[in-house]
Amino acid sequence: MHVPLLPTLFATAATAAVANQTLLYRNTFNSSASISTWIAEGPLTANVSNNTLTLAGAGNSNDYFVYWLPEVFPDRIRVTWDFSPIAEPGLAMFFFGAQSVTGGSIFDPSLKPRNGSYAQYHSSDIRTLHASYFRRSLPSERNFHVANLRKSPGFHLVSQGADPIPSVEDVQDQYYKIEVVKDKRNVTFSVNGLLLFSFDDTKTDTGPVVTEGRIAFRQLQPLVGRYRNLEVWKL
Ligand SMILES: *[C@@H]1O[C@H](CO)[C@@H](O)[C@H](O)[C@H]1NC(C)=O
Ligand SMILES: *[C@@H]1O[C@H](CO)[C@@H](O)[C@H](O)[C@H]1NC(C)=O
Ligand SMILES: *[C@@H]1O[C@H](CO)[C@@H](O)[C@H](O)[C@H]1NC(C)=O
Ligand SMILES: *[C@@H]1O[C@H](CO)[C@@H](O)[C@H](O)[C@H]1NC(C)=O
Ligand SMILES: *[C@@H]1O[C@H](CO)[C@@H](O)[C@H](O)[C@H]1NC(C)=O
Ligand SMILES: *[C@@H]1O[C@H](CO)[C@@H](O)[C@H](O)[C@H]1NC(C)=O
Repeated sequence: MHVPLLPTLFATAATAAVANQTLLYRNTFNSSASISTWIAEGPLTANVSNNTLTLAGAGNSNDYFVYWLPEVFPDRIRVTWDFSPIAEPGLAMFFFGAQSVTGGSIFDPSLKPRNGSYAQYHSSDIRTLHASYFRRSLPSERNFHVANLRKSPGFHLVSQGADPIPSVEDVQDQYYKIEVVKDKRNVTFSVNGLLLFSFDDTKTDTGPVVTEGRIAFRQLQPLVGRYRNLEVWKL
C-alpha cells in the first residue's frame, strides 16, 4: 500500500471530495469476466489474477495497443487506479473523454480503422484527452521523467509535470495510486496524492472542449504494467 504524501491534507481533500460523488464503475479484476467486454485495438496480452490486471504488448516490437472500456462516462468524473510497472522500458497512457470529432461513438463504423498506431488517435477523427506517464521509451524520456497531457485531434501538448514514479528496480512491487479528475474544462493528474499537472481548457486554441466519452489504457512495448482497483466516480 502507498503512503500518501502530506497524509493529513490528502485525507481531508479525498474525504471531502468523495462526500457527494457517485460511484459509476468499479473493477476489482476478480475474474476473467471483469475484462471480457473491453475492446482491444492492437495486439496485447491481458491476464487477470489475484485482483490484478496485467497488460503487456504483443505482435511486432513496434505494435502498440489501446484497450477501451465499453462504458461511456459523463463529462465530470474522477478516475482512480493502482498502477505498478514490472518491466521497462515502454510507456503507459490513459485516454479519457473519447468521442468521434462529430460527437458520436468512437466505434461508429464510418470512422477510420484503428489498430493501436498512435497517429490514429492523436491526429485523426477522434477527440480525446490522453495522459502519458511512466514514459521510458526514448532516451530523452528516460533521462527526464515527465508526464504529458495531450489533446486530440492535433497532438496538442496542453500540460506537463514531473513524474515521481521511479524505475522498475526501485518500484519493488509498490502500487501507485493514479487519480485523474476531468471536470468540464479542468483536468488534474495526481500520483499518490501529489499533483503532477493541471489543465484549464480556456487558454489554448486546441478545438472544442473534451466532454463525455470513453476511457482506455495504452502501453508501449515492452512495458508490462499491473492495474488494480479501477474506479470511476461522478463528481
Ligand atoms: C454535499 O452536498 C450537500 C447538499 O447539496 C452540500 O450541503 C455539501 O456542501 C456538499 N458537500 C461537499 C463536500 O461538496
Ligand atoms: C467480482 O466483483 C463484482 C463486483 O465488483 C461482483 O459482482 C462479482 O460477483 C465478483 N465476481 C467474483 C468471481 O468474485
Ligand atoms: C496477491 O495480491 C496481494 C495484495 O493484495 C499480494 O500481497 C500478494 O503477494 C499477491 N499474490 C501473488 C501470488 O501475486
Ligand atoms: C498471460 O498468461 C499467459 C498464459 O498463462 C502467459 O503466456 C503470458 O506471459 C501472460 N502475460 C502476462 C502479461 O502476464
Ligand atoms: C496499423 O495501421 C497502420 C496504418 O495506419 C499500418 O501502417 C500498420 O502496419 C498497422 N499495424 C498492424 C499491426 O496491423
Ligand atoms: C477550473 O479551474 C479554475 C481555476 O483553475 C476555476 O476558476 C474554474 O472555475 C474551474 N472550472 C470548472 C468547470 O471547475
